[in-house]
Amino acid sequence: MSSLLIRNIKKLVQVRSDNSIVKGADMQHLPCIENAFLLIENERIADFGEMEHCSSRAEKTIDAEGKMVFPSFCDSHSHLVFAASREGEFVDRINGLSYEEISARGGGILNSARKLQATSEEKLFKQAWERLQEVISYGTGAIEIKSGYGLTFESELKMLRVIRKLKEKSSAEIKATFLGAHSIPMEYRSNRGEYMRIVLEEMLPQIAEEGLADYIDVFCEKVAFSVRETEQIMEAGAKYGLPAKIHTNQFYSLGGIEAAVNHGAKSVDHLEVVTDKEIQVLKNSNTIPCLLPTAPFFLNQNHFPPARKMITEGLGVALATDFNPGTTPSGKMPFVLSLACINLRMTPEEAINAATINGAIAMDVENEMGSIAKGKLANAFISKPMSSIAYLPYAFGSDLVEQVILRGEVQ
Ligand code: NIG
Ligand code: FE
Repeated sequence: MSSLLIRNIKKLVQVRSDNSIVKGADMQHLPCIENAFLLIENERIADFGEMEHCSSRAEKTIDAEGKMVFPSFCDSHSHLVFAASREGEFVDRINGLSYEEISARGGGILNSARKLQATSEEKLFKQAWERLQEVISYGTGAIEIKSGYGLTFESELKMLRVIRKLKEKSSAEIKATFLGAHSIPMEYRSNRGEYMRIVLEEMLPQIAEEGLADYIDVFCEKVAFSVRETEQIMEAGAKYGLPAKIHTNQFYSLGGIEAAVNHGAKSVDHLEVVTDKEIQVLKNSNTIPCLLPTAPFFLNQNHFPPARKMITEGLGVALATDFNPGTTPSGKMPFVLSLACINLRMTPEEAINAATINGAIAMDVENEMGSIAKGKLANAFISKPMSSIAYLPYAFGSDLVEQVILRGEVQ
């Protein structure tokens, strides 16, 4: 049996055994133990508590004086598999084009799709593996990864096979989402129905047969798929047992939130533009609003998700990176926390709850991750010495994750 004891922890953060979503005013509550120990046996958390009650011994000991231990971040929304960066479009935006203009002329998602279609599965895996190691070094221990840059039968399956290989080889928890409905390829723009048919009748059955996806996603937006098309895809996904996680309300409020809630979606993601009525719809549902503050930051949009209003209304929000080459070329969860505090006016405690337990729930890993609790996977990180919890989002440019532990192993 392998064992690891972390001693003299200044603060053991997010100690909770209740795996229900943390909502409303409770989001401000972040349970911690001061001057603590954490005992890991094999892959799991075996014990923890105050140092004065620590009688444990282990094969390996780490002294964490002045440092804090956090459960790993659960990044419930990413597009980590892609073939090439898109800094050309970044420069186009600096020169005045909008994200939607770039996308309307065949750039954006279609640009990524062309590159991905021409890249081998091996090369895609290699690039994605490197990105995965990078995000793990930032404290992420669970990540959801979407397809959606394939947009053909072969290439959507290729992406999902890359994600499956990442799942098999990594110690991080990984969930796969089928996002064939990310953009309508140019050749189907005057015959959208045919692309919908390919997604619903060709891609989806094969993906389900090979067990390649855990969720289904749609980009419900003026530049992408309509609410009606989103509903059709959610209904088809449900027949194959795939719950929905929907991109919606990034630029416009079209009714995607209500449709997702009516179809029992696991989460609705982005929500940069949300009406009061939509907040009420979410309030009466189990659908989790997943906020991605680095996307509007990178696109230099003026509107951020109304997190304060959502939390005041009693909602429990999750936070994720949206790591992708178009709107967030970064998978750094600590930076997401900083923006959540700066632009969304979430408190550090709320942001940490959103990025750990609520993120875990938004990707169905809350029984294994999302908090420090006996029996959960030992996926955690040790910070550099820090004066307080708030220092983590405050010191936004610093790398404060010192040591990462996945399944009990120091990485
Ligand atoms: O979540 N909004 C849709 N999808 C991605 C961006 C895709 C891209 O531009 O490549 C997002 O922001
Ligand atoms: Fe996204």
